[in-house]
Amino acid sequence: MSIKIAPSILSADFAKLGEEVKKIDDSNADYIHIDVMDGCFVPNITIGPNVISAIRKYSSLPFDVHLMINSPRNHIESFVNAGADIITVHAEAEVHLERLIKKIKSYKNINDEKKTIQVGVSIVPSTPVNVLEYIIHELDIVLIMTVNPGFGGQEFIHSQLEKISSVKEMIQDRNLKTQISVDGGVSLSNASEIIKAGADILVAGSAIFKTKDIKKAIDDFKSL
Ligand code: DX5
Ligand code: ZN
Repeated sequence: MSIKIAPSILSADFAKLGEEVKKIDDSNADYIHIDVMDGCFVPNITIGPNVISAIRKYSSLPFDVHLMINSPRNHIESFVNAGADIITVHAEAEVHLERLIKKIKSYKNINDEKKTIQVGVSIVPSTPVNVLEYIIHELDIVLIMTVNPGFGGQEFIHSQLEKISSVKEMIQDRNLKTQISVDGGVSLSNASEIIKAGADILVAGSAIFKTKDIKKAIDDFKSL
């Protein structure tokens, strides 16, 4: 099975966001990755539910909403109503993580009433994998940050390759279907080692949007 690709629209042209999303929709991408930042959990501020709702009509691909915000529990419903399919929260942003995971899973997907919202938990580079130990069986996705979140175009942190392998082992030991998504500094030159370490999904922003041909860039990743 080929690697799944989630282009991050953080590196898209925000003045033409609808068109950029449409271009991804016309490609072989598997998800649309949307980075939500609040200026508190991370230093940058990006977009919120209103913008997500506005771009929803430009693609039928699953919207993979990555919340880099404090107190994510207060905002889940807004992102569900905006059209999220997957909501990922940071382990570092919530003390009662198990409760929040169950809350996210309790929502119906407004794009398909037969489905519920899928849930992801993300960890930053300094967070050890053991925070996942008692929750991983509840997760659809573990999002491993391979940069300190906040900005696109940062350099991949190599120490995280070992972390990807440890999470893979945790998933296999427990016979789970949880997917590993890797986010930050992913490029065509390091993608093979990331896949080898155990990634199922690659999130890529600048490596896709800074090229002339988005569709080709996605195909190049998929051919690895
Ligand atoms: C980083 C975001 C990423 C970002 C990745 O804080 O979570 O999704 O867009 O961008 P690149 O691929 O440029 O590192
Ligand atoms: Zn992200």
